[in-house]
Amino acid sequence: MSAVIELPFQAVFPHHETDSAGEAQQLAAVLRRTFGTPFSLWTRATGELAHATLQPGSNDPLRGDLARAVQGHDPQFILDEDCLLVLAIPLALSSGKEVVATAAFVTRGVGELEGLAGPAQLLGLAEDKAALWMSRQTVWSPSALSRLALAVQAQVAAESRGKKLEKEVEKLSSNLATTYEEICLLHSVTQNLRISADDEHLCRLVLEWLLDCLPAETIAVQLLPVARAGENTYKARTQSILLNSGPCPVNDQQFTELVAQLQLSAGCGPRVMNDRATCGEGWKFPAIRQLIVVSIAEGDRVFGWLAAINHREGKEFGTVEASLLNSIGAMVGIHAGNRDLYREQNEFLASVVRALTSAIDAKDPYTCGHSDRVARVSVRLAKELGCEPATLHTLYMAGLLHDIGKIGVDDAVLRKPGILTDEEFNQIKQHPELGYRILADIRQFASVLPAVLHHHEQWDGRGYPFKLAGDQTPRLARIVAVADAFDAMSSDRPYRKGMDAAKVDEILRKGAGQQWDPEVVAAFFAAREDITAMGAQERANLTLDVQQWV
Ligand SMILES: [Fe+2]
Repeated sequence: MSAVIELPFQAVFPHHETDSAGEAQQLAAVLRRTFGTPFSLWTRATGELAHATLQPGSNDPLRGDLARAVQGHDPQFILDEDCLLVLAIPLALSSGKEVVATAAFVTRGVGELEGLAGPAQLLGLAEDKAALWMSRQTVWSPSALSRLALAVQAQVAAESRGKKLEKEVEKLSSNLATTYEEICLLHSVTQNLRISADDEHLCRLVLEWLLDCLPAETIAVQLLPVARAGENTYKARTQSILLNSGPCPVNDQQFTELVAQLQLSAGCGPRVMNDRATCGEGWKFPAIRQLIVVSIAEGDRVFGWLAAINHREGKEFGTVEASLLNSIGAMVGIHAGNRDLYREQNEFLASVVRALTSAIDAKDPYTCGHSDRVARVSVRLAKELGCEPATLHTLYMAGLLHDIGKIGVDDAVLRKPGILTDEEFNQIKQHPELGYRILADIRQFASVLPAVLHHHEQWDGRGYPFKLAGDQTPRLARIVAVADAFDAMSSDRPYRKGMDAAKVDEILRKGAGQQWDPEVVAAFFAAREDITAMGAQERANLTLDVQQWV
């Protein structure tokens, strides 16, 4: 036998072979190719046969016992019957399982008359058959067997290490891919956490993204109501809603029952259910086979529930899925909490505006409803002029508050039915600046201040308080000025009836380019029909929800 050993070891094991039995079979094939004879494989820890062969005597349990008793990691001869040796090679599979490979080898030629009782017993054959078998075997020197066995061991160890590393790289790559997907998902969610973003819209996006990331048939979100019907002026959900991507086996009411049955609460953490039997006899949702539910909550307050329903491959949901769902639930919960806080702030702001508007109405009951009509007409004019929703929102508040300074004017002057003296008129002319001072310290009203201060300026520069002309007057104030004049002329006052529409129109036409911005007056006539209808409408519920202008 040559000392130069070439082993047929390229890609001995299939890349994705993880099964130990399969690997043992592969190993046995390699040993057979290398030594030219079949090897039995024994589990080293127990001495059980892991791979059998048809070589005489090779599967004798005695060899298993000897294999189990092998000390150290070097190849060794565990049986020696004169001209027959049994070689044992300890080997480790890539799974970590240790085996011992054994095979019998002839170490010299056997003479015809030679007694072969020992080898025959070892082979489990009659002597003549043992002699025949031995005569057909390659004759090996023990040292060559040992060297070749060592080489095989080294090669198997290298292959095993390679395979192990390969598995680790595969696992790492898979983890990285999953982590990358999760980071992308979390990043996408954070990009959509703008406080003004509708939480239903955010949840619909999340549902689609999660269905791509999780092996679930369905992702569902139940959003709970955040306000009672009729109590809110800002857009708020007053009924629960169930959103889903993928076919959802439960409706909104059933989902509520599901949450109740699982006794979920804000801080209960992700609830994973892979076995319906664990849910007791009362489980009412046979179509739900696997489930993860997490809360959409901030602190103790629950805004809804996020669920992955039924594993796409019928497997169990694990901690990776539960953890991702929990992270998303927490983020959506924080957003929902912030958004609700924002809603409450806006509710509060609306209350303040409502209180201030009521104060103006109480001060000058003859003009009751004037502020509200000016607000709505201003918004209609601004729409006609193509203003943005945010501007409409500002203009609505500006219309409501434009005359707030009248709170500081004497009642006697304000309610005087006859013609005012110059001094009295000068008092009235203070109201834009008074209004400005009343609102100036409230940050939320900063955007309406220009309209409050300048709504009595005139296009020709003959208004008050600063005699601003043309574009010098802020546009919001020029819009409020037209709405204000229209309503003042149209409404009944204690000392006169409201003018008829034709008269009002005539005055506005004449005043375009003199008292009022001609562009705003043109917008007035373009929207004349709507504005006339507004005068006949009931006073609208006060709402500061910018969404209504979108
Ligand atoms: Fe005014």
